[in-house]
Amino acid sequence: MEKSFVMVKPDGVQRELVGEIIGRFEKKGVKVIGLKLMVISEELARKHYAVHEGKSFFEELIKFITSGPVVAMVMEGEGVIGVIRKMVGATKPGDADPGTIRGDFVLDAGQNIIHASDSKENAEREIDLFFAKEEIIEYSLAVRPWIY
Ligand code: PPS
Repeated sequence: MEKSFVMVKPDGVQRELVGEIIGRFEKKGVKVIGLKLMVISEELARKHYAVHEGKSFFEELIKFITSGPVVAMVMEGEGVIGVIRKMVGATKPGDADPGTIRGDFVLDAGQNIIHASDSKENAEREIDLFFAKEEIIEYSLAVRPWIY
């Protein structure tokens, strides 16, 4: 089953949007299989965003992402990487459609409350960076009494 790394950024935690964000994914049917509140070290932040090193916003991004607690998560489900990215919405505030998380809550390009993996390769890399194997719990959800 596909897995994605999702993180509520420091501004999302400060704005008390953690429940709102997780709730949207739960209602969609995405399963949370790893979850922790943590403060990211500068070393981890630089590894996580290594691909953006040298860009104009890089140092600001490192300062921001290490500035307070984040909620790091592993989410699982059919095609979750693409599904979650759609639900998150575009990075540029003007491009994020209403109904998406960024479209509904974000007006600032940098402080955009959530990160989600953009490919299978990055999801694996990010999950390995943030989670030890034993912190990811594989479990089944109870079968619901669907009406046929
Ligand atoms: S790029 O250049 O198109 O690859 O960059 P982009 O994918 O848009 O953004 C990469 C990550 O940097 C964050 N970002 C910023 N942070 C702080 N300040 C500014 N101005 C800024 N612009 C972009 C952006 O949210 C991406 O982080 P994640 O966590 O992947 O969303």
